[in-house]
Parts: sequence; C-alpha cells; structure tokens
Amino acid sequence: MKVLFAILGLTALLAASDGAALFKKCAACHGANGEKKALGKSHVIKNMSHDEIVSALKGYQDGTYGAAMKALMKGQVATLKDADIEAIADYIKK
Ligand code: HEC
Repeated sequence: MKVLFAILGLTALLAASDGAALFKKCAACHGANGEKKALGKSHVIKNMSHDEIVSALKGYQDGTYGAAMKALMKGQVATLKDADIEAIADYIKK
C-alpha cells in the first residue's frame, strides 16, 4: 500500500509541473508554441528569454508587471506555483 501511495504522490508531483500540460490553456491566446501576440496585445512570448517569462509571470501574480490587460493575465497565473512557472518557461523555450 505504501508503495502505491508513493507512486500516486510522485505522479501528482510530476503532473503539477508538466509544462506541456500547463501551457495548454495558454495556447488558446499565445499559440501552440507561444508564437502569437495574444489578443493582438502581448509580446510574442517565445521570443522572450526564460528569465523574462518567469519574471513576467511572477510579476502578473504580485501585480508588479503588465500593461493594459494585466488583470486578464493575473487570472491566468493566479494558481501557478513557482515550479509550474519554471516548467512553463522551460516548455516555451523548447
Ligand atoms: C485569454 C487569453 C490569454 C490566455 C489564456 C493567456 N494569456 Fe498570457 N497574455 C495575454 C495578454 C492579452 C497579454 C498582455 C497582457 C498585458 O497587457 O500585460 C499576455 C501576456 C503574457 C506574458 C507577458 C508578455 C508581455 O507582453 O509582456 C506572458 C509571459 C504570458 N502572457 C504567458 C502566459 C501563460 C504562461 C499563460 C497560461 C498559464 C497565458 N499567458 C495565458 C493573453 C492570454
């Protein structure tokens, strides 16, 4: 039984920081590879560096980053953990 719980726990951990899965809901606006200007407004995020993406997403969370549509992005990233943000940035840069 313990082993089963260990496996379940590990799966949950991996799933929590799976950049590809996390990016699915972003792709609707940013494009499958982050190649679009979301709603015609955002930067093309695949042209941003890994660190720029991470600091933008953390900035949307704490309200220190963004332009006219930052409230929309705040909603998108509100529940992401730091590990999720790293995983998303890794995925976009692949
Ligand atoms: C409903 C459409 C939509 C969705 C879904 C969405 N975004 Fe955005 N995103 C935008 C818009 C619009 C902006 C520009 C916001 C602003 O004015 O600061 C933006 C900005 C950004 C930026 C900063 C780019 C810049 O212009 O400085 C990053 C990085 C980003 N989004 C990543 C993501 C990630 C990662 C997700 C998924 C967790 C996501 N977005 C989901 C519309 C969306």
